[in-house]
Amino acid sequence: MKVKFVTGNMGKFAEVSAIFAEQGIELERLEDEYPEIQSDRLEDVVDWGLDWLWERHKQPIIIDDSGLFIKGLGGFPGVFSAYVFKNIGCAGILKLLDGLDDREAEFMCCAGYADEAGNKVVVFGCVEGQIIRREMGTGGFGYDPIFVPAGEERTFAQLSLEEKNSHSHRGKAFRKLAQVLSKLME
Ligand code: IMP
Repeated sequence: MKVKFVTGNMGKFAEVSAIFAEQGIELERLEDEYPEIQSDRLEDVVDWGLDWLWERHKQPIIIDDSGLFIKGLGGFPGVFSAYVFKNIGCAGILKLLDGLDDREAEFMCCAGYADEAGNKVVVFGCVEGQIIRREMGTGGFGYDPIFVPAGEERTFAQLSLEEKNSHSHRGKAFRKLAQVLSKLME
């Protein structure tokens, strides 16, 4: 089975390819973008994005909308994570948290799939952790250098891709999605 992953993020593509390869699902990247509707729920963005992309491409596609939700900032940047990262990056988040002792945060991933048979699947994965006080590590992407998942002492940016996948919001969501797709293929 071949599925197209609509993303411009090569980090996401590498992570999801590794998970799908374990299930024998071949992933190809489709370079396109979809308009992200304004909603405070990742699933609304994914649901709408799937419909929009389906009309354009008419082939099995998957998408991923993710966000970092910081407890001490009332869930910010959350659904605005991409915009905030582009504008202030990890350094800006560390500045916002300066002096704050509550460093708890959660990454959430909403993964969606649509195909010609009318199947539409939306699943979630989340990982709790802490925002550390300075950037550490060079791997991964986005907020990885400042996030340490619960049960680890290293940031996502200090873990191998396989280690990150074993803990991460994306790993959890796409392992669920891979299982559903394997059943659809039977
Ligand atoms: P989007 O899902 O592409 O809209 O990503 C939202 C923002 O969160 C982007 O700035 C990403 O870089 C960031 N992000 C999403 N997933 C991860 C992750 O696994 N690690 C670090 N940053 C992430």
